[in-house]
Amino acid sequence: MSTVIDSNPLAGRTAVVTGASSGIGEATALRLAGLGATVAVAARRKDNLDALVERIDAAGGTALAVPLDVTDRDAVTAAAERVSAELGRADLVFANAGVQLVSAIDDLQVDDWQRQIDLNITGVMNTIGAFVPHLVAAAEAGGPADLITTSSIAATRVLEKFSVYSGTKAYLSQLTRLLRVELGRKMVRVSTVEPGMVDTELPDHVTDPDASKLMADLISDIDVLSPADVAETVAFIASVPRHVNLTEITILPTQQAI
Ligand SMILES: NC(=O)c1ccc[n+]([C@@H]2O[C@H](COP(=O)([O-])OP(=O)(O)OC[C@H]3O[C@@H](n4cnc5c(N)ncnc54)[C@H](OP(=O)(O)O)[C@@H]3O)[C@@H](O)[C@H]2O)c1
Repeated sequence: MSTVIDSNPLAGRTAVVTGASSGIGEATALRLAGLGATVAVAARRKDNLDALVERIDAAGGTALAVPLDVTDRDAVTAAAERVSAELGRADLVFANAGVQLVSAIDDLQVDDWQRQIDLNITGVMNTIGAFVPHLVAAAEAGGPADLITTSSIAATRVLEKFSVYSGTKAYLSQLTRLLRVELGRKMVRVSTVEPGMVDTELPDHVTDPDASKLMADLISDIDVLSPADVAETVAFIASVPRHVNLTEITILPTQQAI
């Protein structure tokens, strides 16, 4: 997507992006920094994070690489302390790290089930647990505060063999509705983006041949989303006035019939 936001609406904001070493997270970190935010970038692949920080610095922005595994609660808590010490209180948290592993339920790929639950649910909860105090304090101080997650179209559509992945994403979409009740009162906005097919590394982890074909066909047959399209959406969520909460945004390639 060509960019639709201009100037520096995020100047003075401090953002944290998980899953920033590739795909949607990387593109979003770049875009948030381009719009004026200082950005902490988190994921496991330190080399990718360092390269991203260099790109942001070269473009005149400010970023900090925070290598971590979001399934490790102590590591995420330590990261929140580091962000606080080095960049200041976070007021925009994009809990985006996730993995999609597709299999028939009676194939009993229980390790894959667990990996998705650990990352897509526990990893997000660890991120929320570590950063909610930042967000509440930022809102109390009168500024904007955003908790944004990456759900998926799979949260609401029925895709055969996507059961566990879809379940983790349905959890995030429903969590958004529930957290708004508590955090909205405190002026913290809670949002989730539910993308359709985005051209990233996500399908590289899929071993099921039917699911791999489904995704490869979509990528070759239609103009799928780019990570930058989702990044612009996240940036927009964070850029609207403080009293406006875009809560659940479905973003699909125009031709994706699902
Ligand atoms: N691509 C799509 O079509 C699509 C559609 C709907 C929703 N989504 C969602 O979008 C989000 C981002 O995915 P993507 O498409 O951008 O795919 P991606 O390029 O594979 O990105 C996944 C990110 O998660 C990070 N990650 C994985 N395990 C982690 C861990 N234990 N701790 C910290 N970070 C970890 C990865 O970095 P490291 O490996 O370096 O840790 C990577 O930066 C996911 O939640 C995905 O479910 C994607």
